[in-house]
Amino acid sequence: MDLVEIDSADDPRLGDYVALRDVQLRTSLESEHGLFLAEGEKVIRRAVGAGYPVRSFLMAPRWVETLADVLDAAGDVTCYVAPEQLVETVTGFHVHRGALASLHRTPLPSLDAVISGARRVIVLEDLVDHTNVGAAFRCAAGLGWDAVLLSPRCADPLYRRAVKVSMGSVFSVPYTRVEDWYHGPDTLRAAGIDVWALTPADDAADLSDVTPPERLALLVGTEGEGLTQRWMRSADRRVRIPMQGGVDSLNVAAATAVACYALR
Ligand SMILES: C[S@@+](CC[C@H](N)C(=O)[O-])C[C@H]1O[C@@H](n2cnc3c(N)ncnc32)[C@H](O)[C@@H]1O
Repeated sequence: MDLVEIDSADDPRLGDYVALRDVQLRTSLESEHGLFLAEGEKVIRRAVGAGYPVRSFLMAPRWVETLADVLDAAGDVTCYVAPEQLVETVTGFHVHRGALASLHRTPLPSLDAVISGARRVIVLEDLVDHTNVGAAFRCAAGLGWDAVLLSPRCADPLYRRAVKVSMGSVFSVPYTRVEDWYHGPDTLRAAGIDVWALTPADDAADLSDVTPPERLALLVGTEGEGLTQRWMRSADRRVRIPMQGGVDSLNVAAATAVACYALR
């Protein structure tokens, strides 16, 4: 591992780390280079431990010793070391605990590989908010669900904010994107998995009155509109968390947590 001290925020070697608040710029930069960022000691440890190849590290001097074992494990990569203030100037915000890693994305597994043997699967349709995606992965990991499936347009679980909110669960919970979204419900059923829609609709069954099947895929809808008619109609069952106080629905991450607990 190579330690390189940095004294200018304009150093071109820090290209992976610029403008972390700019979602649009980050999204195109990350897909163009096939990279993603991990932030903070725990999350960096989990990403490297999960086997993602490291492109480089960027951290304040005090983290070099704490993360020495991770830097060694990462092999022949460069660790850029800079004062916290300079890291902040490059990234455009206060970096959580002064340490970042840039890692290579790896190909997603096949749908068959992800659902094979899975008993509890969360299916996220078109979530746009990275915080909600990260929280759903954290629910899956913390409440013992086996896998997460994403619609083609669902927000990226490896986007920095999702990674951070998930506390690194995106590295441990198996997931993939369902490319043939239209036939997704049929594919899941053919694999022996019941498909249930989580919806606040009044005529859905109360979550506390149902007995979950042996194998279950729980469909969760996008923040504004909820589930598409296609997935709603093709679900084997629709379940709801009853609402009161004039509130029509929960935030999607909160609803996922309640349902994952009730149906675990
Ligand atoms: C903010 S809600 C969308 C609200 C939208 N008006 C609807 O009718 O679905 C986003 C997702 O969270 C889940 N959700 C939120 N509140 C819920 C509730 N009370 N019961 C069941 N699911 C809920 C559903 O999966 C929903 O698609």
